[in-house]
Amino acid sequence: MSDLVKRTIEIVMVIVLIGIGAAVLLLTGESKNQDGNPGYRVDLDMQGVSLGENSAGLDPTDTVKLAPFLPTPMCVVEKMLELADVDEDDIVYDLGCGDGRIVIAAAEKCGAHGVGLDIYPQWVKKSQSNAKKAGVESLVEFRLEDATMADISEATVVTLYLLPESNDLLRPLLEKQLKPGACVITHNYHMPGWGDKEVCVESIKDEFGKEHTVFVYRP
Ligand SMILES: C[S@@+](CC[C@H](N)C(=O)[O-])C[C@H]1O[C@@H](n2cnc3c(N)ncnc32)[C@H](O)[C@@H]1O
Repeated sequence: MSDLVKRTIEIVMVIVLIGIGAAVLLLTGESKNQDGNPGYRVDLDMQGVSLGENSAGLDPTDTVKLAPFLPTPMCVVEKMLELADVDEDDIVYDLGCGDGRIVIAAAEKCGAHGVGLDIYPQWVKKSQSNAKKAGVESLVEFRLEDATMADISEATVVTLYLLPESNDLLRPLLEKQLKPGACVITHNYHMPGWGDKEVCVESIKDEFGKEHTVFVYRP
């Protein structure tokens, strides 16, 4: 084998190894955030879920996909409600409500009113039927609505379990509409630029030992 061929093979192998290393770092490493907050790993479970299976929703061209459906474990939901100190005077908005569990738990456990928004009719219907089963229909409302265009001004608590860039996208809406004293809680991904509004950060292990992070803000 000529030197040139050997050299070419070596170069190709180095490039392949660098590529594999970069991919491993990207998938397992923690990212740094622009505002200097500690970085948090993008949830691979969420990344792996396809939006396609929920495609019976609104016209996709009209909506911004903030995250695929992945439910917040109930132990994390309970911690979120506890950290936000939710009670019967609260109106809890879950932007991207999935099966409605956060809003329903807020009504069931704390007596709060709540509104859940989702762009997929099947999640809105599922939330409504779950609310009926839980006996909290009179306290909650689920709407087929794009959260990026929603009126959330009456909310006293807003919960988000969305992709990191979606939190960033919703930030101006939250800053513009929320009343002083309102509480925003994000699951697993912090709100970029809100380091000074952060009240607390808590880690919770779910039943499978997986760690979840919850960020509480008073914007
Ligand atoms: C990760 S799930 C969270 C579900 C629920 N909030 C929870 O924590 O269990 C994100 C949800 O956001 C919904 N979603 C995605 N884009 C949306 C948008 N533009 N407006 C409203 N909901 C959206 C998805 O359909 C999905 O149900």
